[in-house]
Amino acid sequence: MSLLGLIGGSGASRLVPAEHERLPAAATPFGPASGALLRWRGASGQEWLYLDRHGGESDLPPHQVNYRANVWLLAQHGIAGIVGLNAVGGIDAASRPGRLVFPDQMVDYTWGRAHSYAGEAGFGRLHVDFTEPFDRRLRARLCAAAETAGLDCVAGGTYAATQGPRLESAAEINRMARDGCTVVGMTGMPEAGLARELGVPYAICALVINWAAGRGGGEGIHAEIERFMASAVRQAGLLIAALPPE
Ligand code: HPA
Repeated sequence: MSLLGLIGGSGASRLVPAEHERLPAAATPFGPASGALLRWRGASGQEWLYLDRHGGESDLPPHQVNYRANVWLLAQHGIAGIVGLNAVGGIDAASRPGRLVFPDQMVDYTWGRAHSYAGEAGFGRLHVDFTEPFDRRLRARLCAAAETAGLDCVAGGTYAATQGPRLESAAEINRMARDGCTVVGMTGMPEAGLARELGVPYAICALVINWAAGRGGGEGIHAEIERFMASAVRQAGLLIAALPPE
């Protein structure tokens, strides 16, 4: 039975069922991970190993998450892949709040994060191929499960990874749109790149919880986040429940 890692972002810890196993805390060569790993078997039979990216009550902002420790820790457990749940703002018309998006491309605008294992003990230069930043097969599994569950989703898109924690200016979003980006979030990188360096298949399920800056109807980003967060997380829960084991 294959085990999948699940890195949950804002609001996602409510997806962890009451009946789960809490694995003992473990050190990593890269410092502490965001928290303990939680393991359970879902309704479909798929087993999950969950890590709260923001560390629960520690509430780590995106630029202070120890992505290297998180990905490394999950990779020690023989997982078949990692699904990242990432809250995003919608840039193009298709990526409207309330939808799930399964991006197939990525543009990295982050800076100053510990973003690679290259040069660390036991690692070489690691010029990994990132032509396709997300694992094709894992993405296809997620898209198929979303379809089975009848979820409102977009199969494809380009994830803009921003530094945060502030939200973007309208001009920054216009630039990202010109770059071909369709959703914007703060945590997809370096997570995806690190998973690739360790050879772990990785895919993002992006939860659109607001219109990106300058794209909305005037309600305001924080009001939209309030309105859409709970339903986006519910959709992610349905997706996870629908994913059959491989
Ligand atoms: N921008 C960046 N990150 C985000 C957003 C956004 O609009 N919404 C949720 N995460």
